[in-house]
Amino acid sequence: MTQDHPSHEDQGYEALVEQIVVSRRPASAAETAAANRGWWDGTSDDYQAEHGEFLRDVGFVWCPEGTDEADVHLLGDVRGKRILEIGCGAGQCGRWLIAQGAHVAGVDLSARQLQHSRRIDEATAVRLPALVANAERLPFADSSFDLACSAFGAIPFVADSAAVMREAWRVLRPGGRFVFSVTHPLRWAFPDDPGPNGLVADRSYFDRTPYVEVDEAGRAVYVEHHRTMADRIGEIVGAGLRLDAMVEPEWPDGHEREWGQWSPLRGRFIPGTAIFLCSRPEG
Ligand SMILES: C[S@@+](CC[C@H](N)C(=O)[O-])C[C@H]1O[C@@H](n2cnc3c(N)ncnc32)[C@H](O)[C@@H]1O
Repeated sequence: MTQDHPSHEDQGYEALVEQIVVSRRPASAAETAAANRGWWDGTSDDYQAEHGEFLRDVGFVWCPEGTDEADVHLLGDVRGKRILEIGCGAGQCGRWLIAQGAHVAGVDLSARQLQHSRRIDEATAVRLPALVANAERLPFADSSFDLACSAFGAIPFVADSAAVMREAWRVLRPGGRFVFSVTHPLRWAFPDDPGPNGLVADRSYFDRTPYVEVDEAGRAVYVEHHRTMADRIGEIVGAGLRLDAMVEPEWPDGHEREWGQWSPLRGRFIPGTAIFLCSRPEG
């Protein structure tokens, strides 16, 4: 059971890998990308079936708390802007941005996720241009975008999230903005459990050893990498980006939908999501 992203426990994962073992061990960038590409390709159908309605085909939900870009406007005015969605999955956010008048491209590691994006394109007639790419090496020229965004896409999963920050800086024009959501770093210290057990810290927040699920042959089939809050800020600033603000969405009253480890119970006590608002300074 994973700690750092919406649950895959009941999403057909057993059909993909009959017996997995959870471990904490180093995982290189290449091993991480291969494992996660396979995992998202293999579970995408179930993931979209389970979460598609909540995400909406044309909708920008930042996190399991339900924070909606239509309400919070973290990206500011998007009309006419060139926007990159990193780790776009089935493209729900990018499609919403297009509906607001933006020019959007999406990238994702998983071809199957992008096939779902294409399926929704056809159903909605709102088409998101998207391509398979690793967020650690974005296939775009320097200064191509006014904005970049990522709603739990790529960043919690990559070995080298500092590289993603550098790539965001590179593809943004000076003055451009980058806004991304990730699992709140505090959650790393707690069991991945939406119930009361998930309220008692049982491991070190400071232990950066990756979370790795391995198959019977010892191959990684799913990997998450932890960053503390200071690590995240260090990577943002180290890439040359400015951190303008941070949002810790509170669990809304009346919001009963659980998503993996995210639940109303835990949401009352500890943050589940961190959203970082960054920009590439002018000049
Ligand atoms: C939780 S989904 C987020 C997408 C969408 N916002 C959603 O909520 O469904 C995470 C996405 O990140 C993608 N991803 C994981 N690692 C990546 C990487 N290294 N580069 C690009 N995308 C990656 C996965 O394939 C998956 O589609």
